[in-house]
Amino acid sequence: MKHLMKMLDLSPEEILEILDLADKLKFEIKNGIRHKILSGKTLGMIFQKSSTRTRVSFETGMYQLGGHALFLSSNDLQIGRGESTKDTARVLSRYLDGVMIRTFDQEEVETLASFGNIPIINGLTDFAHPCQVLADLQTIREYKRSFDGLKFCYIGDGNNMANSLAVGALKVGMEVALACPKGYEPDQKVLEFASNYPCFNLTTEPLEAAKDADIVYTDVWSSMGQEDEANERKKIFSGKYQVNKELMDIAHADAMVLHCLPAHRGEEITNEVLEQHANEIFDEAENRLHAQKAVMVKLMKG
Ligand code: CP
Ligand code: NVA
Repeated sequence: MKHLMKMLDLSPEEILEILDLADKLKFEIKNGIRHKILSGKTLGMIFQKSSTRTRVSFETGMYQLGGHALFLSSNDLQIGRGESTKDTARVLSRYLDGVMIRTFDQEEVETLASFGNIPIINGLTDFAHPCQVLADLQTIREYKRSFDGLKFCYIGDGNNMANSLAVGALKVGMEVALACPKGYEPDQKVLEFASNYPCFNLTTEPLEAAKDADIVYTDVWSSMGQEDEANERKKIFSGKYQVNKELMDIAHADAMVLHCLPAHRGEEITNEVLEQHANEIFDEAENRLHAQKAVMVKLMKG
């Protein structure tokens, strides 16, 4: 594994290795054991979109591992004035030991990886959010002990989260059901991958997807960059694509609820359900730190 660009690139074994290392690093930091594994190394973090969790967890994680993280806003980089991703990749490779990038187009992440010669980590694109999914899988395993026999369901937009969750959940062996409105399905590449799995189901009916689910996941109706479509999307998703009490009554009695956050209470999830499952959801947010530390160790240790 040279980069973390999307869940489609990882083998099930690589995913489990990252999760095992994430668990180990979590246990150690909680018990005051700090390894300066990345001492002397620098991670550049390019942000073309806002972030709370990704930015803070990468920066803190790098510090805990003995390295340094540089916040690079695209407003300040020459990339924001038109310098190509290709040239930026070649320049940054001369200074840094790794780059985390949050941007729009998945192609940009792939270009950085092919023109640079340092590990590239996808911190969210319109297509994928692999760092979030690794933290999600870590959280599911913590609560449920194993992935065996679990049904994972996702309710809402077929966005970067849906794309990455479907692939990640299938690769670790869960049954996967997605409920998305017509026209808002996951990416074709993901559907092609999922078509090899008989335990995958895509429907427009949230109550069908949630039936007996062990994990209920949702995300915002409009992602970053889709602000212009927000009103239109609200009309399409409202009243149906929401994780609420009625939907939770259909899921398994001890189903967990996850959300990558930020959440729009009253839209994709009710305040009531979010607060009932706040333990899981904020453990999930915490696990961004541990899962990404594992990714950085795997990619940047050298
Ligand atoms: N879930 C997530 O990636 O959060 P941020 O947008 O705050 O980084
Ligand atoms: N789908 C959301 C995820 C945010 C973490 C977005 O892209 O805005």
